[in-house]
Amino acid sequence: MSGYGQTADRLTVKEQRSFMKTIVRKIRQDTEVFDEQEQEALRLAGSIIRGGGLVAFPTETVYGLGGDALNPASSKKIYAAKGRPSDNPLIVHTADMDALEKIVRRIPESAVRLADAFWPGPLTMIFEKSDAVPRETTGGLDTVAVRMPSHPAARELIRQAGGYVAAPSANLSGKPSPTEAGYVIQDMDGRIEMIIDGGDVKIGLESTIVDLTSRTPIILRPGYVTAQMLAAVLGDVEEDRTIMRDDTGQAPKAPGMKYRHYAPRGDLTIVDGAQENVVDYINTQVGLARKQNKKTGVIGTDTSISEYSADVCKSVGSRADENTIARELYRVLRGFDDEQVEVIYAESFDTDGFGQAIMNRLLKAAGHKVIHV
Ligand code: TXA
Ligand code: MG
Repeated sequence: MSGYGQTADRLTVKEQRSFMKTIVRKIRQDTEVFDEQEQEALRLAGSIIRGGGLVAFPTETVYGLGGDALNPASSKKIYAAKGRPSDNPLIVHTADMDALEKIVRRIPESAVRLADAFWPGPLTMIFEKSDAVPRETTGGLDTVAVRMPSHPAARELIRQAGGYVAAPSANLSGKPSPTEAGYVIQDMDGRIEMIIDGGDVKIGLESTIVDLTSRTPIILRPGYVTAQMLAAVLGDVEEDRTIMRDDTGQAPKAPGMKYRHYAPRGDLTIVDGAQENVVDYINTQVGLARKQNKKTGVIGTDTSISEYSADVCKSVGSRADENTIARELYRVLRGFDDEQVEVIYAESFDTDGFGQAIMNRLLKAAGHKVIHV
């Protein structure tokens, strides 16, 4: 965790002038019933958001950076705090179904069925927006992304904040989404009014995004709610072709997916093939990089990690346990930055079910650099 001084050093002169003291308050991880201190913290957070300020908070997927979704000035502040391009729309977080009516033009029947099945939870749906939602929040689009998170503290914060919280992931633009409060503090200390520390998140990858404004619902970003789970409710569902490839010649339909995101500072390559070949190839490359005095890293699994000779070898868990891999991935990527690793090789993972979300994020972190051995 960085101290205030250290963070201030990294800011430009103009930013340092607006450097603020960020309040950090803890909420117990698995609580549904808040004690008095926690209630007070959530009330304070709500009043900060209602007053036009920003609060980072835990959700079941990743930490969010919240502001009042119906206040254009708040959305502008979110973009500034993240260093995010303002054509990249924000997700509006709500706490109940009634809240939906005010912000969307129409609620398709498919949305009602999806909400029944997956809300509250890690699913974001895209609707045509109503006039209540400012274009500053939707990056200039006529559509709005809405999610009802299941995390109790997130839900209570949304209620306290007036019902509509715009929240991108609480990282600086281009960095992996934060899965624990320490990373939020690293990125946002001095830039926002408050951080709610709710410990480690449960899922570790951002929500599934499904667009309901086209004739057939289309998945724009894979997540914990898989294509199979959506198809079971909707019957028909398509996938944005750019999810797993960068050679389609198309722009992703979710504007945020076009940016090189989730990226570690080191140069990351995915190596795909039979386990033995992968280990041989990576160890050879690591040897070559060493000769150039580069610090090397490997992303492997519990069974393979001891076979690698890189300077920093990190396991994302057991290959059979996708939930753990998802929860560890961003922590591992950020860890390489903390240790100033310059060249990173990663094993490849299954692309089925929840694995698709894991590979989608890893591919984006690697700028789609994959070697088949
Ligand atoms: O799990 C999550 O969704 C987390 C937590 C905090 O809820 N939030 C999150 O937000 O990942 P963010 O801003 O990092 O990613 C939102 C993605 C971006 O790729 C953005 O382009 C897309 O959603 N998006 C938002 N509104 C959209 C819209 N109207 N049409 C298409 N894509 C949209
Ligand atoms: Mg993000």
